[in-house]
Amino acid sequence: MDLPDPRRGPCRPLFLVVAASLLACGPRQASGPLFISPDSLTAVERHRNVLALENVPEGVQEYSWYRGAEDSAETMIISFRPPDSKVPGPLYSNLVTVTSKGYLSFRKCTLNDTGNYTVRVDTGNGTQRATGWLEVLELGPPPVISANASSTVENLDSVAAECHTNASHIEWYRNSVPISASQRIAISADGRTLVIRRVSRHDRTLQCVIQRYESFPDILQKSDTVSLTVAYGPEYVSLSTNLKGFDGALTAGIGSQVQLECSCDSDPSPKYHWLHNGSLLSSDANLNFFLDPASPTLACSSASSWLLHLGPLGGVPHLVTSLGCGHLCGILVYGLVKLYLHRRNRAT
Ligand SMILES: *[C@@H]1O[C@H](CO)[C@@H](O)[C@H](O)[C@H]1NC(C)=O
Ligand SMILES: *[C@@H]1O[C@H](CO)[C@@H](O)[C@H](O)[C@H]1NC(C)=O
Ligand SMILES: *[C@@H]1O[C@H](CO)[C@@H](O)[C@H](O)[C@H]1NC(C)=O
Ligand SMILES: *[C@@H]1O[C@H](CO)[C@@H](O)[C@H](O)[C@H]1NC(C)=O
Ligand SMILES: *[C@@H]1O[C@H](CO)[C@@H](O)[C@H](O)[C@H]1NC(C)=O
Ligand SMILES: *[C@@H]1O[C@H](CO)[C@@H](O)[C@H](O)[C@H]1NC(C)=O
Repeated sequence: MDLPDPRRGPCRPLFLVVAASLLACGPRQASGPLFISPDSLTAVERHRNVLALENVPEGVQEYSWYRGAEDSAETMIISFRPPDSKVPGPLYSNLVTVTSKGYLSFRKCTLNDTGNYTVRVDTGNGTQRATGWLEVLELGPPPVISANASSTVENLDSVAAECHTNASHIEWYRNSVPISASQRIAISADGRTLVIRRVSRHDRTLQCVIQRYESFPDILQKSDTVSLTVAYGPEYVSLSTNLKGFDGALTAGIGSQVQLECSCDSDPSPKYHWLHNGSLLSSDANLNFFLDPASPTLACSSASSWLLHLGPLGGVPHLVTSLGCGHLCGILVYGLVKLYLHRRNRAT
């Protein structure tokens, strides 16, 4: 198969475009003296930094980097002959290296790296030098978070958290996701205080994050995570039984076995109290009893009242059943007392 000749025929304009863009992407023709890119002369401690070069001449045979304002042999850090020959100098440390473009790369800057750096660039045809002052900024301590309550009740309590830092740019994270002020969430003007009103069980963790330097938006420092324990429930309270046809009222024959099971969603897990005429019968979720014709005291008194208390908040009459028995049947009635009524009373 014959490939079209790029210099002729319909492919020619395309070829020119490709060639032109390759040239545009390739090394730029030096149009002035070599210098170290000013943007690269500010770094943050414990972070990477690359001293980049501008106006690099063509045909470089060797890049040499020096500590200080001169290119003397004693202060050489490292030299690099493209494509891959690197020679460490007296001031070399394994925290630095040279990139394939001849740039000096610090894996992790320290404050001591602040100072002058000189690069010498040798072409076959001459030598150019450039010096720049690298300023390494202090990172400072990470923020410290505190909260005034770690154990709260859903929809009732508020939590205030404080971010201790001297940085001015503070963000708050809830469940590892950034949050802003909303109906329930207030953030103070200086960003240091967060208040969540009427906490929810979904408010699981809080964290504050600071950006120390505006010019380094990617350098973030995170506080520890504060975990909130939000008590909720009981809710979705349901009563199940072995007897058929349970619909708020229950019919059971004398001589039969009655099994009642209470379930609900609650954190911490609920306490159950089955009361019969005010005396505690059981503290299990389940209550099993036999409607004994020979000892009718429990089941067959005419207006027995059954009361089930449950809930983490203690003593909430939540599920009330009453059993009224003739000789042949028992009737159970249950109703729910909404927990929040109780909480409202508690709150006022
Ligand atoms: C850094 O280099 C500049 C010249 O490039 C010089 O004026 C300055 O004194 C040097 N600073 C130090 C601390 O060596
Ligand atoms: C920084 O320099 C000071 C004095 O020059 C020295 O005491 C200190 O150990 C150095 N720190 C690091 C991390 O190299
Ligand atoms: C060397 O430099 C001279 C002038 O400075 C220039 O004319 C010549 O093309 C250069 N040679 C190379 C190989 O860069
Ligand atoms: C925490 O602070 C908030 C806001 O100041 C307050 O409403 C809440 O009652 C405090 N919680 C506790 C447990 O002190
Ligand atoms: C913050 O504190 C650090 C020392 O922990 C200090 O170096 C820095 O200057 C302080 N920054 C501000 C904005 O106060
Ligand atoms: C339970 O209370 C009712 C009236 O409140 C009473 O008639 C009944 O005898 C009591 N049952 C028992 C077993 O104490």
